[in-house]
Amino acid sequence: MSKPAILVARAVFPEVIALLEQHFQVDDNQADLPLTSQDLAQRLQGKTGALTTGSERIDAAALDAAPSLRICANMAVGFNNFDVQAMTVRGVLGTNTPDVLTESTADFGFALLMAAARRVSESEHYLRAGKWGRWSYDLFAGSEVHGSTLGILGMGRIGQGIARRGAHGFGMKVIYHNRSRLSRQLEADCRARYVDKDELLETSDHLVLVLPYSPASHHAIGAAELARMKRTATLINIARGGIVDDAALALALREGRIAAAGLDVFEGEPKVHPGLLDVPNVVLTPHIASATTPTRMAMAKLAAENLIAFLGGGRPLTPINPEVLK
Ligand code: DGY
Repeated sequence: MSKPAILVARAVFPEVIALLEQHFQVDDNQADLPLTSQDLAQRLQGKTGALTTGSERIDAAALDAAPSLRICANMAVGFNNFDVQAMTVRGVLGTNTPDVLTESTADFGFALLMAAARRVSESEHYLRAGKWGRWSYDLFAGSEVHGSTLGILGMGRIGQGIARRGAHGFGMKVIYHNRSRLSRQLEADCRARYVDKDELLETSDHLVLVLPYSPASHHAIGAAELARMKRTATLINIARGGIVDDAALALALREGRIAAAGLDVFEGEPKVHPGLLDVPNVVLTPHIASATTPTRMAMAKLAAENLIAFLGGGRPLTPINPEVLK
């Protein structure tokens, strides 16, 4: 019997391609050539499965071009690149990679928080530019991290990881806002107190965004929300571009309406709003929050295991639209 055909839309670890080749005829993109939506639709034709990343949009047009497609395994926990409804009505399963990236992503959220609050990037650029003449009492004085108030918007697994780091490692008071409250047990583990969004904005010294992107969370932080924050506050976005109005944030940073920001994700990335490139008090990184080698390997393997399980007639580990399995 011939093996099912799958597309691996981006370059991944060679070991993962080798694993997939044991089960499938693999059309890979190890050259990592950018695929336009037309290229993607064309490469999906005749495929039963696809391993995708956040860069590939799986929408009605892509699905209609690939009537034999049964599963798209995203190598990401976020899946806003999937039109889940369009997939479900066509009986196409989506899977993602939760859990395996939680701790590395929480580490990185904390790294950005520290870098923004303590002005790590800004002071390094100053030093590299040869501007360091002598010590002064206020040279790159930033905001305190330990003992301050850490706000978290979106309290899923990664938000909880950041809360635990703040509360247990840095003695921070943790407050959070989420669509639903955590159980008492989880609130106690994270030493986190539920507050409304206004209190979160007004009270946080450091506000970390970890909520999923959806039309409802589009510009959850815009000019009005930034105006409610403390002038000394830092804002960290490791969630998704589009949750922050980047133009409004660039202006707020330029005008000193908040002290600093750390951004790993951007509206329309890989493009970055030019206003953000111009202001010194923001740390900018290219969507790397989950990028440690072991974590990226675990994400790739989980995506591969989802394909192997489902196309082998078993149950995938992390389905997004399990109704398709019924
Ligand atoms: C995710 O997993 O959603 C990350 O943003 C991709 O690295």
